[in-house]
Amino acid sequence: MTAMAVFAAALLLLLHPSNAQLSANFYATTCPNVSSIVQTVIQQALQSDPRITASLLRLHFHDCFVDGCDGSLLLDNSANITSEKGAAPNVNSTRGFDVVDSIKSAIESSCPGTVSCADILAIGAQASVVLSGGPSWTVLLGRRDSLTANQAGANTSIPSPFDPLANLTSKFSAVGLDTTDLVTLSGAHTFGRAQCRTFSPRLYNFTSSGPDPTINSSYLTTLQQLCPQNGSGTVLANLDPSTPNTFDNNYYANLQNNQGLFLSDQELFSTTGATTISIVNSFSGNQSAFFQNFAQSMINMGNISPLTGTNGEIRSNCRKVNGS
Ligand code: HEM
Repeated sequence: MTAMAVFAAALLLLLHPSNAQLSANFYATTCPNVSSIVQTVIQQALQSDPRITASLLRLHFHDCFVDGCDGSLLLDNSANITSEKGAAPNVNSTRGFDVVDSIKSAIESSCPGTVSCADILAIGAQASVVLSGGPSWTVLLGRRDSLTANQAGANTSIPSPFDPLANLTSKFSAVGLDTTDLVTLSGAHTFGRAQCRTFSPRLYNFTSSGPDPTINSSYLTTLQQLCPQNGSGTVLANLDPSTPNTFDNNYYANLQNNQGLFLSDQELFSTTGATTISIVNSFSGNQSAFFQNFAQSMINMGNISPLTGTNGEIRSNCRKVNGS
């Protein structure tokens, strides 16, 4: 490289500090027990809430898809903040914020002012998957917390359960994730719950001749009983009817059996000619291939434009920008 090229490269790095790398040992000296603190609080919460691990995993996803993994999702409404919690994909849906607060206060007692809320979501996601029977991975750390939220961004960037495959792939590619990441991360729907309103349009008058034809007929009957046509939209269904609280590869067998709960799930297997079909088939037959890919795709998702270095801040309360 010429001196000029070295200078240009250095300038580029300076101008794009968000490309700075996260690292596995970021808190090794400043908060060595951070992962075990997170795990302990989640384990405690699991005693009374078998769904909490699923809810926490989803929070990291909804954080990362909106301006990167920067804790923006966690900010409450205030004079200067229009909370992402009020966006359509989150309102009356995302949960676990109180557990994030408990994790944050436990960490603040051991290592005040050190660990970002964005990193708590990343560690919480990994601990949640492990505690539910899924794979482990090395969580990369060093994210900092945003000073702003982006409710409009949450409305446009987070995929909808009614999105066809082309919209799902374009929302993933907008954040640098590919089709394999899409199929792999959708496997998170192996646990947790969903409200009737997120899938009931598939059950009635979906086509001129009736329900979505890609729903297995006995599964359709079960879902229609749970979610009658003029019933409450907030009744909960298990995302994975076979093993509702376990992180395993049954999600993919469900898709092969036409038991995907959301249109966006079933699309991965039922879209004619789609490249996603062979990935579903391979994960359905091979849990360790799914687990390996899931670990990698979570790292990929966790790398979406973090704030690093001197950008952003370490919030002392995940719900508020410091000093506000
Ligand atoms: C591919 C596009 C995706 C769509 C359209 C989607 C949509 C949804 C919807 C509508 C719900 C139910 C919300 C409710 O009823 O209140 C849900 C739940 C859930 N999602 Fe997704 N999701 C997607 C991808 C992901 C990803 C990438 C992850 C994590 C890696 C994830 C993890 C979860 C979990 C764990 C739940 C259950 C949460 C709970 O029980 O509290 N989802 N998703």
